[in-house]
Amino acid sequence: MAQDYVWCQGIPFPAGGFNPEIIKAAHEKLVLKDEDIITVTYPKSGTHWLIEVLSLIHTKGDPKWIRSVTILDRSPWLESKRGFKFTVERKEGPPLITSHLPIQLFPKSFFTSKAKVIYVIRNPKDVLISGYYFWRFTNLAKKPESLQQYFEWFLQGHVPYGSWFEHVRGWMSMREKENVLILSYEQMKKDPRNMIEKICWFLGKVLEPGELDLVLENSSFQAMKENKMSNIIDVPEELVPASVKITRKGITGDWKNHFTPAQTQAFEETFREKMAGLPPELFSWD
Ligand code: PPS
Repeated sequence: MAQDYVWCQGIPFPAGGFNPEIIKAAHEKLVLKDEDIITVTYPKSGTHWLIEVLSLIHTKGDPKWIRSVTILDRSPWLESKRGFKFTVERKEGPPLITSHLPIQLFPKSFFTSKAKVIYVIRNPKDVLISGYYFWRFTNLAKKPESLQQYFEWFLQGHVPYGSWFEHVRGWMSMREKENVLILSYEQMKKDPRNMIEKICWFLGKVLEPGELDLVLENSSFQAMKENKMSNIIDVPEELVPASVKITRKGITGDWKNHFTPAQTQAFEETFREKMAGLPPELFSWD
């Protein structure tokens, strides 16, 4: 049966797997380490892709780890019931963590640490379509009955993790910080090699050319589609049916196959109003 939301400080979270007390504890008490590397995104922006790339940079392109351990265990979501426990109890191992939290709920310890955040931003129209197919066909959170209904929820921020506009605005305020790197899904698609080089530079890691080739090859959409450890396999079938894959289409501009002209206009008006004042070059899509 489909679940609804749990709420924490006015933000809706999928009832499947989340608890407001844990989200609060992650915000107030979770101590991040200086060596932590945290993938932060609004859902459906390329989280799994970035985790795959970071995992492969860690192993210098060797795919053994990504083929034997699931994404949820390689880079746990710090605000989920399971990921919080894992993050608190971890002693050693690769310092990869994930979060979809808006900045106001992110662990406070981050703001006085040297932990690194990589934030991926994606065209919100594609985020909307990707989210529609995910939440509609899983039982983790409130299910939309139609794309039009989800469209309205998305513009109002009544979707998992709240408003895309507020999430992005919040995190963009960190864009000048030394320990924050902003990437866009669209740039990653256009030039994935350059994206890997940028990440290595940000993390202070050096890869040999052959190692970089392996990272590139093993994190491609096709490679991830074929790697069951890159998809959701460790969540009960009644919450995420096996037919639902993270690797759905992996393209830019799928919104054009779905939006009506009226939806495009309404979306663009909301975007202009909510994102006013931010430099347009942050939004590198069409
Ligand atoms: S989640 O559930 O919020 O963590 O989802 P997230 O991983 O953020 O986003 C899922 C979308 O990312 C696409 N994806 C990729 N695109 C290109 N290359 C690679 N390697 C890749 N891996 C995942 C995935 O297909 C989802 O987008 P859509 O538009 O639904 O296909």
